[in-house]
Amino acid sequence: MTRAVDLVVSNCTVVTPAGRVPDAGVAVEDGTIVAVGQADRLPEADRTVDAGGNVLVPGIVDAHIHNREPGLEYKEDWESATRAAAAGGVTTVVGMPNTDPVIDRPDHLELKFDRGEASAHVDFGTFAVITSENLERIPALEEAGATGFKIFLGSTVGDVPPPGDGEILEAMERVRETGKRLGFHEENDEIIDHYERTFKEQGKNEPIDHAHSRPVIAEREAIERMITFAEETGAKIHMYHVSSGSGAEAVARGKERGVDVTAETCPHYLWFTEDVMREKGNVARIQPPIRDADEQARLWAALESGSIDCIATDHAPHTDEEKKVDDPFGNTWDAISGFVGLETEIPVMLTFVDEGRLTLEEWVYRHSTRPAQVWGMYPQKGSLQVGTDADFTIVDPDREWTLEDRTDLHSKNCVTPFEGESFVGKATTTVVRGEVVYDEGDVVGESGYGTRVDVETA
Ligand code: DOR
Ligand code: ZN
Repeated sequence: MTRAVDLVVSNCTVVTPAGRVPDAGVAVEDGTIVAVGQADRLPEADRTVDAGGNVLVPGIVDAHIHNREPGLEYKEDWESATRAAAAGGVTTVVGMPNTDPVIDRPDHLELKFDRGEASAHVDFGTFAVITSENLERIPALEEAGATGFKIFLGSTVGDVPPPGDGEILEAMERVRETGKRLGFHEENDEIIDHYERTFKEQGKNEPIDHAHSRPVIAEREAIERMITFAEETGAKIHMYHVSSGSGAEAVARGKERGVDVTAETCPHYLWFTEDVMREKGNVARIQPPIRDADEQARLWAALESGSIDCIATDHAPHTDEEKKVDDPFGNTWDAISGFVGLETEIPVMLTFVDEGRLTLEEWVYRHSTRPAQVWGMYPQKGSLQVGTDADFTIVDPDREWTLEDRTDLHSKNCVTPFEGESFVGKATTTVVRGEVVYDEGDVVGESGYGTRVDVETA
């Protein structure tokens, strides 16, 4: 008789970008996948998990979270962010570098990794930031394990100053040498700075004014300029949080020109229009802002056509005080931008699946496989290939529920415009390298189990 494997998850429909297998399951040994297929062909196991007829997909990868550690732990830390990730069905996250200190030196990157190793519930990577001050450190940051690099083109939370265009060109040359990808917070700084100053002078201070102070052209121009620079330098680039159809269409034109440009959008840009600023106020304030219905429709078209590669949250926790939740329609210039998203991203996307806006296969490609590919983690992450990490997200695509109370979420600070929204679909169980870390309401994994994902340099 063959020896029993560690774990079999059975009684599920297995969905990958290639299609779906009903009455299927997966078998795991030593944290890696040893078999995927119809239940009656799977080996005996020491432990079995009955998925209750739900859908099992390769673990969801969210390559854009602000986990705030080191330095801003009053907002969030690795433990709380990855607790929320586990509860939201996310098995891998990549943390953003606008912390304190910013992740601009190898020792800062190592500090961030060490903190994650000590307390994370799910696997993780970290981006390193490029500023005017650290161009020569790019190879060392790559060697220290950065998942990729980020440049802030427009000033935003964290006040990381944008480098000049010459410095960006040089950064692209240097990043190209590392084989890594360079992502951008793509807003033209002069445009947003101009309108913010003008609006303040004119006494425009409502939440919708914040949105209009960062117009679509600021995003589109930044994307087009970076595509032109990448065309010149041969760098691989990425556009974080594309918020508009105009921006997404610029990405599409770049791809047509043969530039290696990838892009993500976030659930909030697909779910809300700028009307949410009038309905929920500064709670929904974010940079880049949520756009009007025409821009949203064109963003959807770009997601459907493939010019938007990935879904990511831009999970950005702030305290109630910083978000001004007591007075959501107060002076917008006193409120901060960003909100949490790790526990609503799968429900949002599954609701779109339920509405027939995309298939389960298309969803899992954009929310697992593609981000893993973009950031060099595939097939270790983002696939169900035999021999790769046994990361699974099990979802109930039919579960109807409402986020009645944001404090039910697992982050340290839970302000989100998704409070009060209703969904069809939810993660039920999260498995990271063969260990169940979340199951039906309970985070059951250990803090510190999560580990850094070693990224390949292509
Ligand atoms: O709204 C935002 N919040 N946009 C960003 O670019 C940063 C983020 C944060 O760190 O809070
Ligand atoms: Zn962000």
